[in-house]
Amino acid sequence: MATTHPAPAPAPAEPLDLVIFGGAGDLSVRKLLPALYMAHLHRNLPEATRIHALGRQPWDREAFTAFIHEKVRGFIAPETLDETAWAGFVARLGYVCLDATQAADFTALARALQPGSDRVYYLATAPTLFTGICAHLHGAGLIDERSRVVLEKPLGHDLASARAINDEVGRYFSEAQTFRIDHYLGKETVQNMMVLRFGNTIFEPLWRSPYIKSVQITVAESVGVGSRAGFYDGTGALRDMVQNHLLQLLCIVAMEPPVSLDPDAVRDEKLKVLRSLRPMTEADVARDTVRGQYTAGASNGDRAAGYLQEANVPPDSTTETFVALRAHINNWRWANVPIFLRTGKRMAERRSEIVIEFADLPYTIFPDAPRQPVNRLMIRLQPEEHVQLQMMAKEPGSGMRLRPVSLDLDLESAFSARRAEAYERLLMDVIKGRLTHFMRRDELEAAWTWVEPILDGWRNLSEKPRPYTAGSWGPAASSALMAREGSAWVEEA
Ligand code: BG6
Repeated sequence: MATTHPAPAPAPAEPLDLVIFGGAGDLSVRKLLPALYMAHLHRNLPEATRIHALGRQPWDREAFTAFIHEKVRGFIAPETLDETAWAGFVARLGYVCLDATQAADFTALARALQPGSDRVYYLATAPTLFTGICAHLHGAGLIDERSRVVLEKPLGHDLASARAINDEVGRYFSEAQTFRIDHYLGKETVQNMMVLRFGNTIFEPLWRSPYIKSVQITVAESVGVGSRAGFYDGTGALRDMVQNHLLQLLCIVAMEPPVSLDPDAVRDEKLKVLRSLRPMTEADVARDTVRGQYTAGASNGDRAAGYLQEANVPPDSTTETFVALRAHINNWRWANVPIFLRTGKRMAERRSEIVIEFADLPYTIFPDAPRQPVNRLMIRLQPEEHVQLQMMAKEPGSGMRLRPVSLDLDLESAFSARRAEAYERLLMDVIKGRLTHFMRRDELEAAWTWVEPILDGWRNLSEKPRPYTAGSWGPAASSALMAREGSAWVEEA
């Protein structure tokens, strides 16, 4: 039963066909279809919207509906599963059996689409299929100036392959029609970072060197590789997480105030950050990066296999499941401020967090302070959404002893409104043609330009990733990386 009150139905608009390539795949089942159900439940989808899932399974409507019932409902929060809304959602759905490499199959798709509709093509397939799909859509006359394409990550595996995909897709879709998705940009707290920085005056004067000592960005996951080894083993944590999600978070932390929220105003500023990242030499890679791979341990109280024992992982795999690195931004605001990025699977807990560590006191008049006083701004993105400002306060008593205390802002209790999942928010942006929270081509390529020397360095150094126990915070070398700069990861501080 739905606990929410749906908004009034939106005004009728042009018919819309939302076409999902890889429509029966993992992403579609876990994220896209549940997000579209929520948009339907809350009456955010334009009235004449049809959703077409595309796949190679030779299903008729009955078999597809059975699949949707069995697989997708499990990814929808039970309290939002309203049977009437669900039936209405399923009625919007269709299935087209299509092999994306076969031009002839696109005629079946053409028949399924509504005449004169706006079209959104969501490519939730391997990126190797992207260019063929665009060419076949074009060949079948299914692209016009109102069509949009959504490109799921990973967009290539290095700069050259990303460029090649962008070139090919660009033959059929203009930049304004191209939505390169990074679902982190759809997260409520990530968008809130913009407000924290640019909707308040108090942080801006301090948001720079030398008032900031370091920045830490952590995206830790407690899950392992699960059933995704086929994809993950050829990808690794640097390509899967750092090249996109962590660099995008870094851009929002480090960018200059954009002149407006217009897509290009925001993306111009993010691009400048990416272009200001100091390129890593091989010596930097050896000194400032740590690769890890989890070994057997425990996760949430259960035994957890090591990466090499996971299904479909080659026994001699050297793929990293953890990365920690130190980056520098070569500009006035960030000169000499180390930026630490860290991500991994099978870590101690699921936690995404940005920690701004402010500068040390230049001089202390409190000799009884137990340790160096520290001011930190901690922005927790998930699982909870909160902002904490750590300050020093006097401990009650006759002495002048200091203790860290924090100002806490729990964003979940501050606002009771429903929080849409990242994919729902971003899908609505695509439907409305809003590009601000999507990556522009030059941004994506600048991210690859910075990441590629790290991949090359690792290849040349040919060191194996360092082992870390599942359920830990990663290899010891990750703590040592911080210690060299006089810093510590927040859970060790
Ligand atoms: C995806 C990665 O982009 O992000 C996955 O491919 C990762 O490996 C996921 O698990 C993490 O997303 P979230 O939203 O759960 O933090």
